[in-house]
Amino acid sequence: MSPNITLFIENDYEQLSRKAARIFADSVRTNPVGSFGFATGGTPEGMYTEMIKMQKAGEADFSQLTAYNLDEYFPIEPDHHQSYEYFMANKLFDAIGLPHDKRNIPRGDAKDPHIEAAEYDVLAIGSRIQMQILGIGNNGHIGFNEPSDYFRGATGHVALTQSTIDSNARYFDSPDDVPRHAITMGVKTIMMAETILLLASGEAKAPILWDALKGLITPLVPASILQMHRDVIVVADNAAAKHLAAV
Ligand code: GLP
Repeated sequence: MSPNITLFIENDYEQLSRKAARIFADSVRTNPVGSFGFATGGTPEGMYTEMIKMQKAGEADFSQLTAYNLDEYFPIEPDHHQSYEYFMANKLFDAIGLPHDKRNIPRGDAKDPHIEAAEYDVLAIGSRIQMQILGIGNNGHIGFNEPSDYFRGATGHVALTQSTIDSNARYFDSPDDVPRHAITMGVKTIMMAETILLLASGEAKAPILWDALKGLITPLVPASILQMHRDVIVVADNAAAKHLAAV
C-alpha cells in the first residue's frame, strides 16, 4: 500500500463510525473555523451521528467550520427528501448548529448546471479544504465521478451510470425517480484537500476497496487516484477490508 495511506481496520460499522468521528474532530480542533468537505451516502451516517453526540457532550465544536459537500443530484429541489442538501441538514448540520451560510452544496435547482459547477469549483478550491470525507461507490466512484476513460478534473455536471442509479434507487420511491445527472466536485478538486478521510463498510465494498487502494491507478476506478494523494486516512470495517488484510 502506498506509504501515504494510513489504514485503520475496525471490527464493525459502529467502531468505524466512532473512529472516523474522532479523527475528524481532531482535525477540526486544530482549526475550528477551517473548511471541511462532507459526503453523503449511507456510510458516513454513523460518523455523523457520533459527531452530533460529541457536539452535544461538549467534546467537540463543529459549529464554526465551513462545509463543502461533494455533490448533489441534478435536477432536484433542495427541499426534496432525497436531495443531499436535505440529507446534510437532517443527518448533521441542523443538530450541530451549523449556520446556513456555512453550508455549501451545489444547487440542484440552479438554472444552468454548468455555471453552477464552475462557480462551485472556484469556491471549493479557494476554501482550501482541510479534510475531505469520502465514501466509495460500488463501482469505485468518489463523489459522483463515475468510471470513465479519463479522470474528471474540475467540478462538473455529470451523467450517472446505471450501476449508481440502481444502487441509489433504494432511497427513492421508484427507480424512475432517481435523477440521471448530478453536479460533483471533480477528481482534481477532491485531490486538493489537505487530507482525505475515506470510509468503507461491508463486504460488498471489499473488492472495490482493494482495487482502489492496491490496484492499478485508472479512471475506470476513480478512487484509485487516491493512491497519488499525499495524505489519505482510510477507516474500514473488517468486512470491507477483508482483501486488504489478507495481503
Ligand atoms: C453516492 C454518493 C457518494 C457515496 C456513494 C456510496 O452515490 N454520491 O459520495 O460515496 O453513494 O454510498 P454508500 O455509502 O451508501 O455506499
